Amino acid sequence: MANRLEIQDLWVSHEGKKILRGVNLTVPLGEVHALMGPNGAGKSTLGKVIAGDPNYQVEKGRILLDGEEITELEPDERARKGLFLAFQYPVEVPGVQVANFLRLALKERLGKEPPITEFYARLKEAIDLLAWDEEVLSRYLNEGFSGGEKKKNEILQLLVLKPRYAILDETDSGLDIDALKTVARGVNSMRGPDFAALVITHYQRLLNYIVPDVVHVMMDGRVVKTGGPELALELEKRGYDWLKEEVAGA
Ligand SMILES: Nc1ncnc2c1ncn2[C@@H]1O[C@H](COP(=O)(O)OP(=O)(O)OP(=O)(O)O)[C@@H](O)[C@H]1O
Ligand SMILES: [Mg+2]
Repeated sequence: MANRLEIQDLWVSHEGKKILRGVNLTVPLGEVHALMGPNGAGKSTLGKVIAGDPNYQVEKGRILLDGEEITELEPDERARKGLFLAFQYPVEVPGVQVANFLRLALKERLGKEPPITEFYARLKEAIDLLAWDEEVLSRYLNEGFSGGEKKKNEILQLLVLKPRYAILDETDSGLDIDALKTVARGVNSMRGPDFAALVITHYQRLLNYIVPDVVHVMMDGRVVKTGGPELALELEKRGYDWLKEEVAGA
């Protein structure tokens, strides 16, 4: 079956309010795509709906993973199929230490208890790659984490869980330059024939470090333009107004 994440004519609403209006998007395994677009375009909603957030209603359309429809699956079933979502606003989980959270998440992902040696090998590799102090593993998840630490923690999750498809929502927001490079190093280390990512970002800057294969632009609940990395550069230079006009005129 086709190895890809595929969104077909997806219409989504929230309490009667239409948010997504016919999204079409395909991310083949082995590629990293960027998703850009103005505030309120529906980028985070798309990410959440792909992950199975029950707060949104899918009115129409389908989400397929490797050719199999997952539109109606529970979030944990999607995670077991290799889907990972890092949230724009990461949650605090009081009383759960980072290492324990990761072990539980990995158990969920694998559908069974991970062998303890493998788990620690993954942890060590991830911590080293992020040049982070092991001390973070005994902290409570996101409690008192700085904005940058929360984002690094998402990448830590990514590296330990090793999903096949990852959706990273504004992983760059609030990062200093060094942390940005560290996060990019983490994502880039995952790149390969068995990994795909959809990176939601507002800034070209991140894409200097995570060079996308394809850039999509979302506006008013649909993908209105798709291009190469040069599209992100053009948006950085010209903003979104020209594209709005282009879309309105089409
Ligand atoms: N849970 C919700 N309740 C009410 N409105 C929502 C909800 N989720 C999304 N929306 C609305 O849907 C629209 C799209 O929101 P979304 O967060 O997906 O945009 P975005 O493209 O991620 O924007 P940003 O770049 O600011 O993060 C917005 O108008 C938002 O207010
Ligand atoms: Mg958003």
